[in-house]
Amino acid sequence: MITVITKIIRIHLPRPRYKIISEIALRWSPRHYSDEKIPQEHINIIFEAPRWAPSGHNHQPWYFYTAKKGTGIYEKLFSTLDEYNQSWAKTAPLLILACAITSNTEGKNPYAFYDLGAAVLSLILQAQSLGYYSRQMALFDKQKVKEFFKLDKNHEPFTIIAMGKIGDYTKASKQVIDYEFDPRPRKTDLVKELETRL
Ligand SMILES: Cc1cc2nc3c(=O)[nH]c(=O)nc-3n(C[C@H](O)[C@H](O)[C@H](O)COP(=O)(O)O)c2cc1C
Repeated sequence: MITVITKIIRIHLPRPRYKIISEIALRWSPRHYSDEKIPQEHINIIFEAPRWAPSGHNHQPWYFYTAKKGTGIYEKLFSTLDEYNQSWAKTAPLLILACAITSNTEGKNPYAFYDLGAAVLSLILQAQSLGYYSRQMALFDKQKVKEFFKLDKNHEPFTIIAMGKIGDYTKASKQVIDYEFDPRPRKTDLVKELETRL
């Protein structure tokens, strides 16, 4: 009998047309996590990766705050998520608040969010290589986050990332399972050789 998890993985697992690096080929964003803790040694490795991401003028305009499940801080960060995200993220052992550093001594940094994306993907792929999955969430109350945690003024919260081992989907709610049966379409038209129209 094919289990729910096998069906869900089949829907989500990328089917690359060419051989690509395994972390990309394995990555997808589950909505159900095991509450198994991520050991601190793995968290250290995961946050080493974004240190080496590229950035405009090498400004490295990113900052990450972590919250481990079982702490009051986690509950506080979790409470800023919208209802939909709360419905599936509740078992994730680690929440990561990803912030862009939007200004520096030279003024506003126009590359901050672009560079934050590169840093986030680095850490997600590093986590993937250790067997941890992630799903990013932009639907949360950014103002509340700023107030609750008294963030530095130029730390602009952008996503909260739920991270952990993939969960046992037989224990997931029907609503979460229904979401996961949505197809995962990928566009195929994304590149062509540049030609002049003159
Ligand atoms: C900037 C950003 C914001 C997102 N916000 C949410 C969100 O609030 N809730 C959610 O369930 N998924 C969210 N996602 C996850 C995307 O929906 C998901 O990455 C996309 O559907 C592609 O699926 P895949 O990551 O499995 O390839 C977000 C992703 C990104 C990059």
